[in-house]
Amino acid sequence: MDSLKIIGGQPLSGEIPISGAKNSALKLMAACLLTAEPVTLTNMPNLADTRFLSQLLQTLGVEVYWPKGDSECRLNAEKLTSTIAPYEQVRKMRASFNVLGPMLARYGHATVSLPGGCAIGARPVDLHLQAFEAMGADLLVEQGYVKAAAIHGLKGAQIVFPFVSVGATEHAMLAATLAKGETVLENAAREPEIADLADCLISMGAKIEGAGSSTITIQGVDELHGTNHKVMSDRIEAGTYAMAVAAAGGHVTLTNAPVGALSAINHALRNAGVKVEADKDAGTIEIETTGQPLAPVNVDTAPHPGFPTDLQAQFMALMSVARGTSVIRENIFENRFMHAPELSRLGANIAVRGSEAIVTGVEKLKGAPVMATDLRASVSLVIAGLAAQGETTVSRIYHLDRGFERLEEKLSAVGANIRRTSEEDEG
Ligand code: EPU
Repeated sequence: MDSLKIIGGQPLSGEIPISGAKNSALKLMAACLLTAEPVTLTNMPNLADTRFLSQLLQTLGVEVYWPKGDSECRLNAEKLTSTIAPYEQVRKMRASFNVLGPMLARYGHATVSLPGGCAIGARPVDLHLQAFEAMGADLLVEQGYVKAAAIHGLKGAQIVFPFVSVGATEHAMLAATLAKGETVLENAAREPEIADLADCLISMGAKIEGAGSSTITIQGVDELHGTNHKVMSDRIEAGTYAMAVAAAGGHVTLTNAPVGALSAINHALRNAGVKVEADKDAGTIEIETTGQPLAPVNVDTAPHPGFPTDLQAQFMALMSVARGTSVIRENIFENRFMHAPELSRLGANIAVRGSEAIVTGVEKLKGAPVMATDLRASVSLVIAGLAAQGETTVSRIYHLDRGFERLEEKLSAVGANIRRTSEEDEG
């Protein structure tokens, strides 16, 4: 199993190109199931998760042309050979569950394994299922699978989500594009990835209004056609590198950055005393530290446009070296502080009380062996390792490979001392 070895204390300087967004790419890939014509996605991130989904799509009969390392992926779902997504594949990655809605909408039936819980929380899919029921689907949950049928097709519906869910909003929107009549999604998630998915669907002939706001209206159409769509850039990757620079010190320009999607993050970084210059037209964000200690900043995770839960771990690593105490509240997932004890191994002073972490900054972190527990937790350990004195080894980095493209290459290019090693897992 691979590990990352980091010698901390090097300031970072230069440019880091931001890749396509994992959480957008995964839903855009599922959208190919809605049409018999080819869908070409550019700016595709080469990640374990996007490759997993490509394998699942191939199991269903989708022709995928995506050479290794290429940022263009062509998907052709002209003829599906199966509408069953098996447990062995869905359990590897939760977002695989999103193939249900498109297959149900286009073929009138689909059987998809329930994804199961994951390290950061139980993550049920009840809201997804309620949306399909409201659209007239018959659902049977049996032996860990959801068997869904809508023999006469899905019908438009008024769906009011009891709380905001990114996945349920996207999944319902995908299915509603081919439902008969109008679907209105109320209390919809407003994440930028939802607007990206809507843009792609609209270019396929879907009729969608309001994506990016909390009410989305979809007029169903009889069929969708193929398209060419550029995956938006990854705001979580951009925020992660911004925090890495803030923690290690230096001056880095993020290029191909989704500038408009990063307001909450830029705001938190500025409050911590980091210089942040965003240029929307150029798609760049310049991050520069001042040499002064960072100020503590409290953050509460919240649905967009609030502070994203996917950057909470990274921000905690940053606050570990601020001067003073900050409070970080996790409001989206019930078990997303697993990085706290690992950060403590590097000398961070963090007390977790329920959904709150109280972080008292220390002057210096010290390198140590640590273990990654989930995707964003892993990268928070990399950030801490870059800021720490001495050597940090982050093991179990397969989590990291799920969501960060060429991480060590991008960080080495701006002066970080980081390398990947292969070794037996001792944990
Ligand atoms: N929830 C339910 N029932 C549902 C759906 C969600 O109870 O039917 C709960 C979840 O358990 C969670 C909350 O609602 O407590 C919000 O979950 P949401 O549905 O918004 O999250 P998701 O769609 O499963 C996506 C991202 C996550 C990101 C969240 C929140 C993808 C593939 N995943 O998950 O990304 O944290 O939105 O922004 O888009 C990551 O990339 O590391 C990651 C975990």
